[in-house]
Amino acid sequence: MSDHLAYPAYGMSCPGESAIAVRHADGNMSLEMEVISINNMKTDNSSTTVISLRDKVYPFYVDVHYKAYNDVDMIETWSEIRHEEKKFITLNQFSSGYLPVRRGNVWISHLYGSWANEGKVTQERLEPGMKIIKNKDGVRNSHTAHSEIMFSLDGKPSENKGRVIGAALCYSGNYKLKIDTDDSEYHHFYAGINEDNSSYNLRKGEVFKTPELALTYSNEGLSGTSRNFHKWGRKYKIANGDKERKILLNSWEGVYFDITEKGMDQMMCDIASMGGELFVMDDGWFGDKYKRLSDNSSLGDWMVDKVKLPNGINGLVCDAKKNNVKFGIWIEPEMANTTSELYEKHPEWIIKAPEREPVLGRGGTQLVLDLANPMVQDYVVKIVDDIMIDNPEIDYIKWDANMAIMNHGSNYLSKDNQSHMYIEYHRGFEKVCQRIRKSYPNLTIQACASGGGRANYGLMPYFDEFWVSDNTDALQRVYMQWGTSYFFPAIAMASHISATPNHQTFRTIPLKYRIDVAMSGRLGMEIQPKDMTEEDKAQCRLAIQQYKDIRPIVQFGEIYRLISPYDKLGVASLMYVTEEKDKAVFYWWKTEHFYNQHLPRVTMEGLDNNKRYMVKELNRIDNAPLSFENKVFTGSFLMANGLEIPYNHKVDYHKQNDYSSRILYLEEVK
Ligand code: DGJ
Repeated sequence: MSDHLAYPAYGMSCPGESAIAVRHADGNMSLEMEVISINNMKTDNSSTTVISLRDKVYPFYVDVHYKAYNDVDMIETWSEIRHEEKKFITLNQFSSGYLPVRRGNVWISHLYGSWANEGKVTQERLEPGMKIIKNKDGVRNSHTAHSEIMFSLDGKPSENKGRVIGAALCYSGNYKLKIDTDDSEYHHFYAGINEDNSSYNLRKGEVFKTPELALTYSNEGLSGTSRNFHKWGRKYKIANGDKERKILLNSWEGVYFDITEKGMDQMMCDIASMGGELFVMDDGWFGDKYKRLSDNSSLGDWMVDKVKLPNGINGLVCDAKKNNVKFGIWIEPEMANTTSELYEKHPEWIIKAPEREPVLGRGGTQLVLDLANPMVQDYVVKIVDDIMIDNPEIDYIKWDANMAIMNHGSNYLSKDNQSHMYIEYHRGFEKVCQRIRKSYPNLTIQACASGGGRANYGLMPYFDEFWVSDNTDALQRVYMQWGTSYFFPAIAMASHISATPNHQTFRTIPLKYRIDVAMSGRLGMEIQPKDMTEEDKAQCRLAIQQYKDIRPIVQFGEIYRLISPYDKLGVASLMYVTEEKDKAVFYWWKTEHFYNQHLPRVTMEGLDNNKRYMVKELNRIDNAPLSFENKVFTGSFLMANGLEIPYNHKVDYHKQNDYSSRILYLEEVK
């Protein structure tokens, strides 16, 4: 056993990396911490150990917290930093936690990407040097890299074997994960708020609480670690994580900004006719003096455009009721456009560098509001209040955020505290979220940020789900949803059936495959039903009906990823199994298409060896049932041998195409 500090401090052993570094009020740059007490607090579901540290010379204190849950495999760690020095001190580094990971053949798996390519998996062996995973967007933190990571301790990562440590930083803003591999026996892992351009002046008596770093361990590979994250997420970290999500149609790809009352009515009627439960009106419904006809105006002016919607939101809510679906609405409350009444009234509310012109975002006119400012916080809360007070039956809000912080400057913060801007933005945002959640605990709220920019456990306590990506191409979604599922459960992953050719990749994928991919997450539609054939609608109707049956398994079941699309074996496959192991849903998607292909036979996981399962295909399009339809197999057979899945669909000649996918439903027979 080597000795490791729980929370390495800078100053008395300078060459190493540290979790905390400060400049004291008198200019001294060093810390020398000692343990002054260790306390434990128990609640019904957790036990928290607090290690209290004090500097040997200065009245400077850090309480390092470790909260261990009793019913899920997760420990959250964070620190609370304070001092009693005469003037403010400056925090230069303030990690949430530190973990030494024993060297060996350690690999990391983490997510990277960009707009329309979020959640991609990358895996690498840890070598000497510093590995940094970070975000500096300011507003959205998961478009590019993600603040979650897995360490596979037994060599190249495997889905269902091997020891794995998982870590997720629960923060919505800029973060930094760093792994320092020096010539010792350990990799040194630090995670926390990204301190770049964010040094923090801590007042006497003020407590600086770092975001939580959630840590888990599994000896059942990456999938086992995901199951730990999912269980903890659903139980403690995702709003309404125990409630089934509705099947919805979102208007964006169907009509874009072309919102009309007639158009919305038609879409509501169509989704209702296919068995959907909710309709969401996306961007384009608002603006009075400046109307939102494209992305270059009106953010901030959250009054209905009476030309487009003469009977207001109220009229739409009534129509939704007639159609027996719930109604949801899109907003982007943290933003303004230069062309808006809001900006005319409050130019001082935006984020921009003093003495400089603002850098503009989407549409050439977008601006970010300064959420550090309590008046802006009140204004954002009021946007939601106004909508909900007028229309209490609104069931769902899609909360978008389409711009990064482009220029550093807060008109609200003092000159000395400009470096607090990123941190205060997210504190302000969290306060807003808390107030909204207090008033509307049952409202479903989606975190959308130009797609998957806000998939993080800092926000999930306030949001029910996130939009995985603006890219709705089913084939690319197999890869993105695969990666996203490392850390987030299906219940949180909005996954929609969209049109073909796809609006982002222009790929033509048959409806069956688009449905089969969307049904592995929180199913929805992102399409103009008016343009669908009756046959397509019937196929979606059947899929929706069948999804309702498997919804509890997908949304609350345990994930077993079987064959990764990243392994390039021509097929990807995963399954969800209930905790009781009496029901399961198995997904199989071909990812490459050649003549005379040789695909691996997929063996299942997570079933009970001794249980017997009947297999039924869902969303069947083949002219004849599969050879194993309605047949019964033992769990041990399915896990040792799997089923021989035909590579292509047996359909009429004119319906043949280059895609193939299967969903199998397994149910125990007693
Ligand atoms: C970006 C989102 O990701 C889309 O789904 C859509 O809501 C647009 N914004 C609307 O402007």
